[in-house]
Amino acid sequence: MQKYCIFAARNVYIYCNMALIDEITRRRTFAVIAHPDAGKTTLTEKLLLFGGAIHVAGAVKSNKIKKGATSDFMEIERQRGISVATSVMGFEYKGAKINILDTPGHEDFAEDTYRTLTAVDSVIIVIDGAKGVETQTRRLMEVCRMRKTPVIVFVNKLDRPSKDPFDLLDEVERELKIRVRPLAFPISSGDTFKGVYNIYEKNLSLFTSDERQTADASTVDINDLTSSDIDSYIGEKFAMQLRENIDLVEGVYDTFSREEYLAGELAPVFFGSAVNNFGVRELLDCFVRIAPSPRNATTETRLVEPAEAKLTGFIFKIHANMDPNHRDRIAFMKICSGRFERNKNYLHVRSGKQLKFSSPTAFMAEKKSIIDEAFPGDIVGLHDTGTFMIGDTFTEGEKLKFTGIPSFSPEHFRYIENADPLKFKQLAKGIDQLMDEGVAQLFTSSLNGRKIIGTVGALQFEVIQYRLEHEYGAKCRWEPISIHKACWIESDNETQLADFKRRKHTNMAVDKHGRDVFLADTSYALALAQENFKDIRFKFTSEV
Ligand code: G4P
Repeated sequence: MQKYCIFAARNVYIYCNMALIDEITRRRTFAVIAHPDAGKTTLTEKLLLFGGAIHVAGAVKSNKIKKGATSDFMEIERQRGISVATSVMGFEYKGAKINILDTPGHEDFAEDTYRTLTAVDSVIIVIDGAKGVETQTRRLMEVCRMRKTPVIVFVNKLDRPSKDPFDLLDEVERELKIRVRPLAFPISSGDTFKGVYNIYEKNLSLFTSDERQTADASTVDINDLTSSDIDSYIGEKFAMQLRENIDLVEGVYDTFSREEYLAGELAPVFFGSAVNNFGVRELLDCFVRIAPSPRNATTETRLVEPAEAKLTGFIFKIHANMDPNHRDRIAFMKICSGRFERNKNYLHVRSGKQLKFSSPTAFMAEKKSIIDEAFPGDIVGLHDTGTFMIGDTFTEGEKLKFTGIPSFSPEHFRYIENADPLKFKQLAKGIDQLMDEGVAQLFTSSLNGRKIIGTVGALQFEVIQYRLEHEYGAKCRWEPISIHKACWIESDNETQLADFKRRKHTNMAVDKHGRDVFLADTSYALALAQENFKDIRFKFTSEV
């Protein structure tokens, strides 16, 4: 009898595990990243249209902070509300469960993007074919490189005059510091853009400028590049050029290796025109085939594998409710292992409390819905009344802390002062919660105990002031302070550290977690400090 039970129990265990493994294997969680204007929003939208997740173009577009919005934070507030709904968009495509994580395009919110990158398993980088690699792309790629995130490159806007494809490939390799392997190759660009030859699938997609085209209709199989059929499709001149180019590609670039792609060492490159829905299906089909399912995640103590039976996950983003009457927030948790269940108790490691969630949400297609379960790779929206912080870990009892969720050294600083003495408590609470959301960072000066807010983009000061007033009923005033850079300092040489802190007392502060921060007045002062205090590590990112 006992044997039977064990057997049955094992069977159940094996069944559960297999079901879990199936769910993990079919998940693809990724973000589209780009320099503003390269076509991130357009591509995301086309991917969603392909996956049937949205039915009208424009659904994602409305999430975009418009150009010139820098001085109009009301507009940003409105966008912020919409972006809750599009923060994570899930859909099914060819048996895969795809989760696209939205990243703000506005560079003042770059830190949000960096954090989102900690929750994805791969990324698609969009590059404007005429402009090539731009600053924001370079910075975002640095984060991907640090995390060894697999990347696919999509060169966009081929319907406009673009740089030579080989020059572009060289530029990507040089600027993004990653080897590339074109899996498609364009035939001309701009007015004479003929289409794309898909090296991976050996077919030719012929370009017609039509937003509604599905690409299927104009795709022809080409098993033999010498075939004169090609001449009839794109003309003799372009056919010859294509043959030469493909010869060159095969000669210059190594064959595509999925292992190298997964290791973050090789980026496959596609070409197309997102606005014309051109080259998007090829990209998506290849993505589903090669992109990784959820990967192992690092904690302070051990590696967590997605197929582990017990749930683990971490919060990478917190979004405030837009309704000022309901000050609650949504915390976004990435599931790293096990199965998440509604109404089950989980350990909130930082507080040591057991918490359960009666209405966890997920975004499938256009609908936000309460879910009963979720699997590794999924993002679950948790109702938060102000208890969670970015980086918080949930488990079934184990005391784990996921690592690698970065806080970036801010670049803009101001003293924050209370402008309404009767609202002191509201101000303190508001600042506290906004910092937990990762909107900005709070430092307390060792010199005078004054509070300093540091942000990655200048826009955040307006956002903070507005939100403090509208969500917390508190008023603040900014006062200037001249700081070049804030960096966290650490050292194994305690004497030197103590000496540094004593000498630089006027430039020292502590962050929200009590860690020492050096507020350098100028780049010269920073360089001098680095030179004179060799045993001190000056860190420009810190982990929360
Ligand atoms: P972003 O999210 O990366 O900032 O870029 P977004 O998709 O908003 O695209 C920026 C602009 O580039 C948009 O034009 C968009 O229509 C255009 N675009 C995107 N893909 C292509 C493409 O393949 N070819 C061409 N020619 N243009 C493309 P806009 O004028 O700023 O906005 P809209 O008025 O078209 O909405």
